[in-house]
Amino acid sequence: MSHVADRSSVVIMDTYGPRPRTFVSGDGVRLFDDNGKSYLDCLGGLAVVAVGHANPAVTKAVADQVAVLTHTSNLFHTEPQVELAEKLVALSEMDRVFFANCRATANEAAIKLARRYGQARSGPDRYRIVSLNDSFHGRTLATLAATGQPAKQATFAPLPVGFDQVPGGDIDAMAEAVDESVAAVMLEVIQGEGGVIPWSADYVRDVRSLCDESGTLLIIDDVQAGMGRTGNWFSWQDLNIEPDIASVAKA
Ligand SMILES: Cc1ncc(COP(=O)(O)O)c(C=O)c1O
Repeated sequence: MSHVADRSSVVIMDTYGPRPRTFVSGDGVRLFDDNGKSYLDCLGGLAVVAVGHANPAVTKAVADQVAVLTHTSNLFHTEPQVELAEKLVALSEMDRVFFANCRATANEAAIKLARRYGQARSGPDRYRIVSLNDSFHGRTLATLAATGQPAKQATFAPLPVGFDQVPGGDIDAMAEAVDESVAAVMLEVIQGEGGVIPWSADYVRDVRSLCDESGTLLIIDDVQAGMGRTGNWFSWQDLNIEPDIASVAKA
């Protein structure tokens, strides 16, 4: 075991099992370990490093910005923040942006927004969130409750209430679950972490129609499928539908 791995096993919690390599640098699609061995990076930091390691344009943009203004909190305006929001609004054709600090908190914010909207319009009983079996929406308590994978939820009980899952691709099961207590349906257009399944355009469009008919919001979790990965900027644009809320990250 390398010196770094030894130190790591003392001070970092072992939540992901054995970690077989220690990487020291990267260049584009290549990673280099502490023995100088080169690897083709097919993981991209769990689909985060989409433009490669040590990308010169990203390195320069980050260094230039940090040299001028590092962080001001969300209590103030800054031009780069507005510029990014304008780009996201233009590309997504949605109305406004909320910046979160990670992928799961983007979904957490989507759930809170849906509950707030549902309860403002229909009263305190409209809070339920329906998602799909085998979906993955994150590891915070609420996003874990929305994640349809009981093995990942085990040992963290009790999870927040008001989350139900139905089998993906089954519009009758979805129709049965969506009633006036449901604030939002949450789904990945292409299921990712739970095993890659692209849902059919008909299914996703039928879910959109069900939401429209029942006054339920549609949240699309585009954390893994969005940001250009399907050819369009966002996965729902392949299907010609629009979500009410969408979460994006990993870019
Ligand atoms: C579709 C989807 N949503 C949400 C997340 C949550 O990301 P994290 O647990 O890293 O915050 C992921 C992570 O892989 C994801 O694939």
